[in-house]
Amino acid sequence: MAGSTFGKLFKITTWGESHGPALGVVIDGCPAGFSIDMTAFDAYMKRRQPGLMSHTTSRKESDKVQILSGVFEGKTLGTPISIIVFNEDAHSSDYEDLKHLYRPGHGDATYDFKYGIRDYRGGGRSSGRETLGRVAAGALATQLLGTLGITFSTSTRLLEEEALATIAQSEDSIGGGVTVEINGVPAGLGEPVFDKLDARLGAALLSIGGVKAVEIGSGKACESMKGSTHNDVILEKSAHGIHTATNYAGGILAGISNGEPIIVSASIKPTPSIGLPQQTITDAGQPTEVTIRGRHDTTIVKRAAVVVESMCAITLVDCLLEQQTARFSFFTKTTP
Ligand SMILES: Cc1cc2nc3c(=O)[nH]c(=O)nc-3n(C[C@H](O)[C@H](O)[C@H](O)COP(=O)(O)O)c2cc1C
Repeated sequence: MAGSTFGKLFKITTWGESHGPALGVVIDGCPAGFSIDMTAFDAYMKRRQPGLMSHTTSRKESDKVQILSGVFEGKTLGTPISIIVFNEDAHSSDYEDLKHLYRPGHGDATYDFKYGIRDYRGGGRSSGRETLGRVAAGALATQLLGTLGITFSTSTRLLEEEALATIAQSEDSIGGGVTVEINGVPAGLGEPVFDKLDARLGAALLSIGGVKAVEIGSGKACESMKGSTHNDVILEKSAHGIHTATNYAGGILAGISNGEPIIVSASIKPTPSIGLPQQTITDAGQPTEVTIRGRHDTTIVKRAAVVVESMCAITLVDCLLEQQTARFSFFTKTTP
């Protein structure tokens, strides 16, 4: 399956299916000599772990991470970091009835058209479980960025718990949103023209299952704004970047970070797998009805928040490494 690799210099490749023996990620291009805080790493992984949050799947997975390579005595070696997590609680029999059905809103039909074969158990590679590898890479990326003073503040837009409980009881699901504010990003990250920072973040976030829209700064609201308002007044300059009175740009101008906080928002659709009867067809094209019995999130938003944050962090590490090649003076200054 092509398309499982993301990034140019800080490269992640995720692998594995929802009901296979294991899933994981290979992170290539992580600079050597970085001490990983494994306690913080495990705590980060818990933010997407199934079975821990209300209105999320009841699948019980410990998601215990094993680092197979690239780390020696707690420090990165500069070689590929391979991370594996074993699946422990896959109930594949829940999916037996779906073997020849196309679930509305899911990837069954499109995978069939593309490959002519699919692992129907839990959605295989189109499952939210694929994001485990992204979050493992995100755990590392946020630590790397943390040493440079770059911090993340991630929030969700979601119905409150009572309304969520009503949706869950009615066997339905609901969408929502995730906003990531990234502070401390220096000016200069992102490459004109096709690799603009906003384009890179957009691609990163739209690669997450269920994400239907990405906004930077003012986002869609810019459609009804005037230039005199939308132009962020520039107040001052420092080695870090510019400081503006407002931040409708979301910290990015001409595809390059300007030193202000980066504001990215993702809209997430309602979980496609719902327990209500839905009209669909079989893979032979016969009309039928499907009622999905597997364990699913009432909303994807809660567990996706850390996935969105991770993809932002992975993108920023990649752009930071790339920035080291932008100026000739960098090489002349750093001669050992
Ligand atoms: C963290 C996470 C958890 C998810 N959990 C579920 C789930 O329990 N059931 C489901 O049907 N889809 C779930 N999804 C969404 C599907 O993966 C996604 O809708 C599917 O791959 C189709 O892709 P698309 O929505 O981008 O078109 C989850 C996604 C993420 C990121």
